Amino acid sequence: MSLLEVRDLTVTYAGGAAAVRGVDLRLEAGQKLGVAGESGCGKSTLALALLRLLPAGTRTGGEILLDGEDVLAMKWGRLRAVRWAGASIVFQGAMHSLNPVHRVGDQIAEPLLLHRRATPSEARRKAGELLEQVGLPAARAAGHPHELSGGQRQRVMIAMALACDPMLIVADEPTTALDVMIQAQILRLIERTVAGRGVGLIMISHDLAVLADTCDRLAVMYAGRVVEEGPARRVYADARHPYARALSAAFPRVGDPASRFAPRGLAGDPPDPAALPAGCAFHPRCPVALESCAVDDPPLRVAGAGRRAACVRVAQDAAEEPGDPAPPKEARRTTP
Ligand SMILES: Nc1ncnc2c1ncn2[C@@H]1O[C@H](COP(=O)(O)OP(=O)(O)OP(=O)(O)O)[C@@H](O)[C@H]1O
Ligand code: SF4
Ligand SMILES: [Mg+2]
Repeated sequence: MSLLEVRDLTVTYAGGAAAVRGVDLRLEAGQKLGVAGESGCGKSTLALALLRLLPAGTRTGGEILLDGEDVLAMKWGRLRAVRWAGASIVFQGAMHSLNPVHRVGDQIAEPLLLHRRATPSEARRKAGELLEQVGLPAARAAGHPHELSGGQRQRVMIAMALACDPMLIVADEPTTALDVMIQAQILRLIERTVAGRGVGLIMISHDLAVLADTCDRLAVMYAGRVVEEGPARRVYADARHPYARALSAAFPRVGDPASRFAPRGLAGDPPDPAALPAGCAFHPRCPVALESCAVDDPPLRVAGAGRRAACVRVAQDAAEEPGDPAPPKEARRTTP
């Protein structure tokens, strides 16, 4: 059984925005899955849906099997038990996620107390240990969030996420707004933490290069759908879907002067999820669109061993690549 299996997940906000549309994903224990895509493609919505943290009035469909149990069907008591202890989230922007009036040590201890994992004095001691694990002195537990730098606050968020030893950690843009040195430190910290514990990690970012470097597999989202999924470095180096290719080409390659002097972007904007175009949602921006793309929305299909892509052109070159790892047992389809 997979640690996490997302089947045909759909999320529609109260105003009608179809932010996630038929997403299928799978994550094994100890595996790191990157989720990439432009702003507004539904990455955070997907992350929030995994723990049912979406605002009231949002419609959600499909299944989210965490260790075989459907999160979407859980009663509130069970869901509360699963949050933090089964799966936890490091949110986008740590300053807004920490409570400004409480000491950071108390905030790290809170999930331990809520889940009755420790007495108050044990929880205080564990909070100090967790701070040390994320590279901060235990004495920082007595400080308030405003006394810490952005990078230190993000470390506190990671300590909180680890407190109850979850099976799954979802990190939503954990390094946004941090300088590049601190970014690298935080990413290495998350990587190390996950590697040492056999925890599953979903790392969300718009930065394909960072994900290719950090994760085992990579899913690229566009307009609420996964349009390409496969081994991270291979998707980054040789994307099959035209959108994933454009996203990858937008990052200059180290040592490649051509990409340094002429990084390629993608013209146009992503569509409004409340008014999606018919057919393939990418067709108005796609440089290789066919006439049929304005009508047909292709599902994810096999695009080489262990790889899937949702593009009508991919069917023609779905041959396996030499040296590819074994394909997954089944190639799931995303419902259009
Ligand atoms: N609470 C909400 N109510 C209505 N629409 C929302 C809400 N939150 C997000 N959306 C819309 O859903 C779509 C997906 O938003 P989401 O925050 O998931 O994108 P994202 O990929 O995380 O973007 P970013 O990279 O900017 O964080 C966007 O069009 C957004 O405007
Ligand atoms: S299906 Fe058509 S429009 Fe969509 S990415 Fe492929 S070629 Fe482009
Ligand atoms: Mg987001």
